[in-house]
Amino acid sequence: MSSEKAEKKLVYDITDLPGVGSATAQKLIEAGYSSLEAIAVATPQELSDVTGLPIPTANKIIKAARELLGFRFKTALELKKERMNVKKITTGSKNLDELLGGGIETKNITEFYGEFGSGKTQLCHQLSVNVQLPEDKGGLEAKAVYIDSEGTFRWERIEAMARGVGLDPDKVMENIYWIRAVNSHHQMAIVEELFDLVKRENIKLVVIDSLTSHFRAEFPGRENLAMRQQLLNKHLHQLMRLAEIFDIAVVITNQVMARPDVFYGDPTQAVGGHVLYHAPGIRVQLKKSRGNKRIARVVDAPHIPEGETIFVITEWGIRDPE
Ligand code: GTP
Ligand code: MG
Repeated sequence: MSSEKAEKKLVYDITDLPGVGSATAQKLIEAGYSSLEAIAVATPQELSDVTGLPIPTANKIIKAARELLGFRFKTALELKKERMNVKKITTGSKNLDELLGGGIETKNITEFYGEFGSGKTQLCHQLSVNVQLPEDKGGLEAKAVYIDSEGTFRWERIEAMARGVGLDPDKVMENIYWIRAVNSHHQMAIVEELFDLVKRENIKLVVIDSLTSHFRAEFPGRENLAMRQQLLNKHLHQLMRLAEIFDIAVVITNQVMARPDVFYGDPTQAVGGHVLYHAPGIRVQLKKSRGNKRIARVVDAPHIPEGETIFVITEWGIRDPE
C-alpha cells in the first residue's frame, strides 16, 4: 500500500490488506473475519485454514491489519499531543463540566450509568443540542447522531433545550440524526454504517441511549453472560474506533438498579453484572437527589480525579443548582 493512500484514507476494510483479493476477502467474510479487528487478533494458522493461503502469507495479512489499526509503538510525546487535541462539549452545568475536566471528550466513550430517572436520557438530549453551539459557548458547531434503543427520545425536549441555549429549535432538530435500534444486531449494524455517515457529515457526537438494554433482554441470565459480554465488547470496540478515528465524542447510557440486598460496597450494580467494567472511557454514575437535583460521580477514570458534584434538570435542560 502506498503512503499516499495511507494519508488519504481514514477507514480501512479488509480489502485494503495486501494480498487480499476479492476471492480471499469473500472467504474471510464467510468465515467471520469481516473486520480488521477480527483479522488483527486471529492466528496465522486460523487464517490459513479458512483461506487456504500459506501461513507466511496469512501472517503478513495479520501484521498489515494490526498496522492499519494503529497497533504500533507511539512515543509519550505523541500521546501527549493526541490528548491535547481532545475537544470538549459542555453539559450545560459548570459543576458537571468541571468534574469531567471541561466537558464530554471527543476521541473517547463516556458512560452515564444510574437508576431510572437519574437523568441519563436528559443528558443525552442536552449534549445533542450543545454539540451544535459555537466553540466559545462550549460546543463544536457540529451535528449529533442519536441511537435510541428504548424509544425515549423526545423532539419536544430538544426544542425546549435549543430555546434554553438561544439556538433556533428547527435548525437544532435538523442537525440531530435520530434512529431507533430495534435489537442488538440492528444497533451494531447502525454503528458500522456510521463510518460512512461521519465521513460525509460534520458529526462530533454519537449517543446510544441505552447501550445495554437490548443485549440484556436478548441474552438474559448467567447462562448467556459470556455471549452477551462478547457482543458488548465488540460493540464497544466499534465505538472506540469510531471515536478515535473521527475525533467524535461517544456517549452511552447504562441503567443500573439499586440493590437493597447489597450491604457492602456500592449498592447500585449494573443489572446482570458490570458489563462495561473493563472497557475504556469515562464512567459517570448518576444518582437521584432531592427534587430536580442529581448527583454525578466520576468513577475510575484514567486521567480525571475521582469526585462528585450536583446538577439540576430544569424545563430548559441541564443546569447548575441555584
Ligand atoms: P431511565 O431511562 O428510566 O433509566 O431513566 P433516565 O436516567 O434516562 O432518566 P431521564 O433522563 O429520563 O430523567 C428523567 C427526569 O428528568 C424526570 O424524573 C424529570 O425529573 C426530568 N425531566 C424529564 N423531562 C422533563 C421536562 O420536560 N421538564 C423538566 N423540568 N424535567 C424533566
Ligand atoms: Mg432513559
